[in-house]
Amino acid sequence: MPPWPPADGVVAAARQRRTFAIISHPDAGKTTLTEKLLLYAGAVAEAGAVRAREGRRRVRSDWMALEQERGISISSTVLQLHVGGRVLNLLDTPGHRDFSEDTYRVLAAADAAIMVLDVAKGIEPQTRKLFEVCRARHLPILTFLNKCDRPGRDPLEIVDELEDQLALRATPVTWPVGEPGDLRGLADFRRDCFVRYGRTTRGATVAEEEVLSPTHAAAEEGAEWARAEEAAALFREVGATLDEKSFLAGESSPLFAGAALTNFGVRHLLEAIEELAPAPVPARDADGLERPLEAPFSGFVFKIQANMDPSHRDRVAFVRTCSGHFERGMTLTLARTGRPFSTKYATSLFGSARQTIDEAYPGDIVGLVNATGVRVGDTLFTGPPVQFPPLATLAPELFTVARAADVSRFKQFRRGVSELEEEGVVTVLRDEASGDAEPMLAAVGQMQFEVLSYRLREEYGVEVVLSPAPYTVARRTDRATAEALAAQRSVRVMERRDGLLLALFESPYWLDRLQRDHPEYRLEELVVD
Ligand code: G4P
Repeated sequence: MPPWPPADGVVAAARQRRTFAIISHPDAGKTTLTEKLLLYAGAVAEAGAVRAREGRRRVRSDWMALEQERGISISSTVLQLHVGGRVLNLLDTPGHRDFSEDTYRVLAAADAAIMVLDVAKGIEPQTRKLFEVCRARHLPILTFLNKCDRPGRDPLEIVDELEDQLALRATPVTWPVGEPGDLRGLADFRRDCFVRYGRTTRGATVAEEEVLSPTHAAAEEGAEWARAEEAAALFREVGATLDEKSFLAGESSPLFAGAALTNFGVRHLLEAIEELAPAPVPARDADGLERPLEAPFSGFVFKIQANMDPSHRDRVAFVRTCSGHFERGMTLTLARTGRPFSTKYATSLFGSARQTIDEAYPGDIVGLVNATGVRVGDTLFTGPPVQFPPLATLAPELFTVARAADVSRFKQFRRGVSELEEEGVVTVLRDEASGDAEPMLAAVGQMQFEVLSYRLREEYGVEVVLSPAPYTVARRTDRATAEALAAQRSVRVMERRDGLLLALFESPYWLDRLQRDHPEYRLEELVVD
């Protein structure tokens, strides 16, 4: 007997959910694909013309800019689509590599990822980094091979590259038919047919599709169809065919060819998200125990956004629902402090339009407004207490000492730094030598510091002076090693708010030498917690 009454409705609702994120290197087509998924899910009637976005600074959210550009109302953090009886939650990930850490946290809230590759470029640096996070979490990945409408590399080469560079077995589901520059349609290996697409201007509306049998396709497309059939035979021969078990384990990846711009393959991808992507499963707590889906509400904060809109100066915590039925107005407990937390103001949509959310189920994201005192990584629950494990963090690579230009603004400076740290904008490191007046800030990308400076000025009225510190590498360490390192030159051990100790080195050379001379020191790479 479970310790709480079975809640069939919760498990059934969880089974309908698909919560996923799109990962890609900038320019591979994430924004375009997002927009086309909206179009095919019926969330927008027409996809607007994509305007040149050169020089656009993706500081906050790609979707916010998308909203402004297209005048459509979508969420800047999570987009909920209702397709074929399923509820799809699409989570936004920042496009710029400087915000990789935000992306890491978002991936912690996703149950699957879509990896978008540009067929002309294959695997790019940011794709690889994000893929590694997915792999560490055994996240199932669907691959979308984009821009097949224009000359690129042979898709077979990309399949090899996935295997060679990422040890990911691609299992093609759709394959391009046509010359580069003259894409005619896609071979659908699952349904054994050819799908020919009608033209739409930049894919503003759903493209007409004509489904042809292999015999018809051979008669009409000749050599181009034969090439796709050869590829299919090859995949069958090497066993590169759709395999649910290895896909769910994150070892193989169903591959969809297409062109988001002209809508080729978008429907297939959307169907695959519905059919293949996994529904939420019970989350494990910090002790490795599963919290059943039907247990009372629990969730964790994967993102905090404050002052998103100057007319709503507030702070929203985004909570991934892990178990139970969320009902607006319920009182939750913040696991870290044991304090109650009211959910009177829960929202689902952000950006230009906010909507109150009344209920949510496992997989759904709830935005809690007025989330003062809440930090990224916090657990919230009702009923039996639970604490989910800390979120993934990346080793910082940039360090800078911060101080308020005007000492009379010190109080605002301290509050601003602390609140921005809670949001995860930067990491603050401390040791005995550093006081609150001149904290050491650490980041993965330079733009994190720029965001901090900008927001301290705009939101807290503080002009900040940043003095870069000479460290370039950080390693996680322990107390014993920290004591031994105290006498060393070119290394400084500092503590993160959660108690994690980081040894900062001026050069990888010092680190290598120390590791060689003292193999007993604990100096671990901090890629994913
Ligand atoms: P991102 O979010 O991953 O950074 O990529 P985004 O969708 O902004 O797309 C980057 C560029 O690639 C855009 O061109 C977009 O139109 C183009 N693109 C996306 N998908 C396809 C596709 O399937 N085929 C082709 N040929 N192009 C595609 P841009 O020049 O930056 O903007 P614009 O001039 O098209 O507005």
